[in-house]
Amino acid sequence: MRTPLVIGNWKMHGTVAEARALAGALRDGLKRPRGVEVAVCPPFTALPAVAETLAGTPIAVGGQNCHWEDTGAHTGEIAAPMLADLGCRLVLLGHSERRREMGETDEQIARKVAAALRHNLTPVLCVGETAEERRQGLTFTTVEGQLRAGLVGLEPAAVTRCVLAYEPVWAIGTGVNATPGQAAEVHGYLRGLLSEVTSKEVAQRLRILYGGSVKADNADALMAEAEIDGALVGGASLTGPGFIAIVRKAARGAASRGE
Ligand code: 13P
Repeated sequence: MRTPLVIGNWKMHGTVAEARALAGALRDGLKRPRGVEVAVCPPFTALPAVAETLAGTPIAVGGQNCHWEDTGAHTGEIAAPMLADLGCRLVLLGHSERRREMGETDEQIARKVAAALRHNLTPVLCVGETAEERRQGLTFTTVEGQLRAGLVGLEPAAVTRCVLAYEPVWAIGTGVNATPGQAAEVHGYLRGLLSEVTSKEVAQRLRILYGGSVKADNADALMAEAEIDGALVGGASLTGPGFIAIVRKAARGAASRGE
C-alpha cells in the first residue's frame, strides 16, 4: 500500500570527489530498484555533482535543510528554490542535530516545511525524543508536539505531500537502534495523530520512516514492521554496499507484507 522509501543522509561527510564516487556506486548498484524508492541527501557542496551523477536514474536527490524564506539577506543559508534549481526533490527538515546544534525551533521548522511545499520539494519532517524524555515517559508527548507544530496550518492535501521520519535522538549515531517494537509503537502513535489532524485516508497514505542506527544487519527486522515505511540512514549510507543492502531489505520487507 505504501511504497517504502529509503533515504541516505550523508550529513557533513565527504568531498565532491567522494560524493561523486558514492553516487556512482549507488547508480551502478541500484539500476532498477523494485518496490522501493531511494534518495540521498549529500552536503550542499556536493549536490550539483551528485545530481549530475544520478540524473536519469530512479535515485532522487535531496537537501539536508533549507531556509524558510525564498531569497534575501540570510548569510550562510540555502533556500528551497535553490535546492529545486539543482534538481532536488526532497529536503530533510527538523533533524535533531539541527534542533540541538543550531537551536532550530518548531516554529522555524513549520515555516521551512511550508517553503519546501511552495517549491514542490517533499519535506521529510523529523521528530524524536531524547533519552531523558523517554526515561521520563515523555516520548509520545515530545513527538506529538513536534508533529503538530511542524505541520501546523497545512491543509490535508499538503500533509499528503510530506514524509515523516521518527528518529529517536538516543538511537542516532550510537549503534543502539530502537527495537522494531519500540519504533512500531511510536509510528502507530504518529499515524493515529495524523489521522486526527487530517483524515484516516491521508494518515494511511503518509510514509513514516525510521532513523537511528539502521544498518544492513538490523534492517530486516525493522522493515518487517507494517508501520515502518522505510528508513532514514546516516552512517550506514556512507558506503555503497551498506546502503544498497538496506534498500534491498526495505523492498523485501514490504513485499513480504504483501505491499
Ligand atoms: P545514524 O544512521 O548514523 O544513526 O543516523 C541517523 C540519522 O540521523 C539519519 O538522519
